[in-house]
Amino acid sequence: MNEAIARAVQLLLAGEVIGLPTETVYGLAADATQPLAARRVFAIKGRPVGHPLIVHLAESSWLHDYCAGDLSRAQRLAEAFWPGPLTLILPKNAANVPDEVTGGLNTVAVRVPAHPVALDVIRALGRPVAAPSANRFGAVSPTTRDHVLLDLGDQVPLVLDGGPCQIGIESTIVDLSRDQAFLLRPGAISAAQLGAVLGEPVLDNDGEGPQAPGTLESHYAPDARVVLVSAQELWNTVRSTMDSCFVGVLALSGDVPPAEFGLTVDGLAARGLVQNERLAVYGISGGVESAAHDLYAGLRALDEAGCSVILSPLPELQGIGLAVLDRLERAAAPRGHQK
Ligand code: TXA
Ligand code: MG
Repeated sequence: MNEAIARAVQLLLAGEVIGLPTETVYGLAADATQPLAARRVFAIKGRPVGHPLIVHLAESSWLHDYCAGDLSRAQRLAEAFWPGPLTLILPKNAANVPDEVTGGLNTVAVRVPAHPVALDVIRALGRPVAAPSANRFGAVSPTTRDHVLLDLGDQVPLVLDGGPCQIGIESTIVDLSRDQAFLLRPGAISAAQLGAVLGEPVLDNDGEGPQAPGTLESHYAPDARVVLVSAQELWNTVRSTMDSCFVGVLALSGDVPPAEFGLTVDGLAARGLVQNERLAVYGISGGVESAAHDLYAGLRALDEAGCSVILSPLPELQGIGLAVLDRLERAAAPRGHQK
């Protein structure tokens, strides 16, 4: 076994919490069977204890150990999408999942992550890890090891490196604990894709079943205020906002600033940050997958540049673009509404 994985397992067995890469975002992982370790995750994140954690399994055959009830729909989705960015809400097997992990709910969130480092750790541990995204509660999720080190590096003994996350936004969450399937959080896998495999529609969240606390209001928020504008209005809005503050632009689809703003367009043809004393632009080019991949890195970079407002055009509303819009809307939601 690789040395880093061995150390991770040793720490997890001892009830410690570590940073762990997944294909969606980095997680803050604890042994899911240890109540005290789970409590530690909440303390480190500053997360209210009622917000349940996702339990990450090594493979779908583990479903039977941690979940209860009829698992046939879950098995079908697992076969189609695991390992991958899909979380299932199922009745929990209370004998093996502590209340600390599920925030006292009688359901549990489970997924098999598609990242070799995460899978190696879970397999070697021989039990699942409970892991929320490795950011402070309500803040922007981390998609690189450096993001985790910056936010929480002084609070965890180890952050494993798995490179930048391939997808960049959190998993799709579907609730299978009720008669009908409900989408609780959009992600890389769409409701239509899930519905096609299930042979039944996956409905929009009706707010009646168990909710995914933290998915409803302000979330994924940088320090700067986030404002969404239509692509056509973007540069006009920049012009009128620049008089009063240092503006950041998340140029989601390679939007290039007009020459009047004095930013070298050459620098923007690639990705990343260009700025002068009045304006900072984080360039993302290449469609909705790239928008998802670079969204959090962009929000973080604009925050670090010192912008007090971040303007973002609406993403293309297809595929993972719908999940990008969901995250942007939460980043833009009034603060102080975190659940
Ligand atoms: O991609 C992901 O899902 C990442 C990586 C690390 O796997 N994890 C992640 O965890 O996004 P977190 O804790 O940031 O978000 C988990 C969401 C929360 O909104 C939580 O309320 C919801 O899942 N959740 C967990 N258990 C639930 C349950 N039993 N019923 C309803 N929602 C649940
Ligand atoms: Mg999170």
